[in-house]
Amino acid sequence: MNVLVIGASRGIGLEFVRQYRADGAKVTATARQPDGVAALRALGAEALSLDVADAVSASGLGWPLADAGFHVAIYNAGVYGPRHAGLQAPTREEFDAVMHVNVLGAMRALQEFAAPGVLARGAKVVVLSSRMGSLGERRSSSGWLYRASKAALNSLLVDASLQLGARATCVAVHPGWVRTDMGGAQADLDATASVRDLRRLIANLSPSDNGRFLNHDGQPIDW
Ligand SMILES: NC(=O)c1ccc[n+]([C@@H]2O[C@H](COP(=O)([O-])OP(=O)(O)OC[C@H]3O[C@@H](n4cnc5c(N)ncnc54)[C@H](OP(=O)(O)O)[C@@H]3O)[C@@H](O)[C@H]2O)c1
Repeated sequence: MNVLVIGASRGIGLEFVRQYRADGAKVTATARQPDGVAALRALGAEALSLDVADAVSASGLGWPLADAGFHVAIYNAGVYGPRHAGLQAPTREEFDAVMHVNVLGAMRALQEFAAPGVLARGAKVVVLSSRMGSLGERRSSSGWLYRASKAALNSLLVDASLQLGARATCVAVHPGWVRTDMGGAQADLDATASVRDLRRLIANLSPSDNGRFLNHDGQPIDW
């Protein structure tokens, strides 16, 4: 098993690396900072330095991934941005910071996944979305910039499923509300349990799941 995790310095991404390595998988993973790269190497992963929001950094992703033949490719990098409860417009800097990581960074990664040889035949492509991005299940507007970014990420995933569906199964997943720097201490699940669920979900994906939005327990989520 050959696994790629983009954005793996901490939280859910680092836990993916830990669990896949513990299972004996070959793992390639990325982090922005040297201490994140070192943590990934300590887990036995092939570690790459990558800031998904930086065009120059992201353009360096192509050659290390060429012909890698990943069975699982995960786009995990994400930021929440301003915690607005109402309809407060973000500053342009806040908007750019969230959209560049959650949306533009995902476009850059998906472009690389589409290159010949990067994915193994029958690969699983997973983007870490959020139930907060669902339009159909929306009952609150808190964090509307983050919600908009995850709705846009979901749109990218559907496009990826159309482009890559003949050779990969592409899904957007909600990891649950998870105790990480983003999720906070009050969240329902620890990263170990969330990633255990997500790895089971990924292992059980079949081609008929291509283009779906799934909760960590496997239940579908309305777009
Ligand atoms: N926690 C939850 O309850 C929850 C719920 C729904 C969805 N999610 C989604 O799950 C994913 C992981 O969340 P988490 O809770 O583990 O968050 P986290 O603890 O805040 O970790 C976020 C990860 O994204 C990376 N990242 C941020 N900006 C980046 C950039 N410019 N380039 C590369 N990597 C970057 C971070 O790297 P640095 O260390 O370098 O900043 C870190 O590894 C996110 O996409 C998030 O939206 C989380």
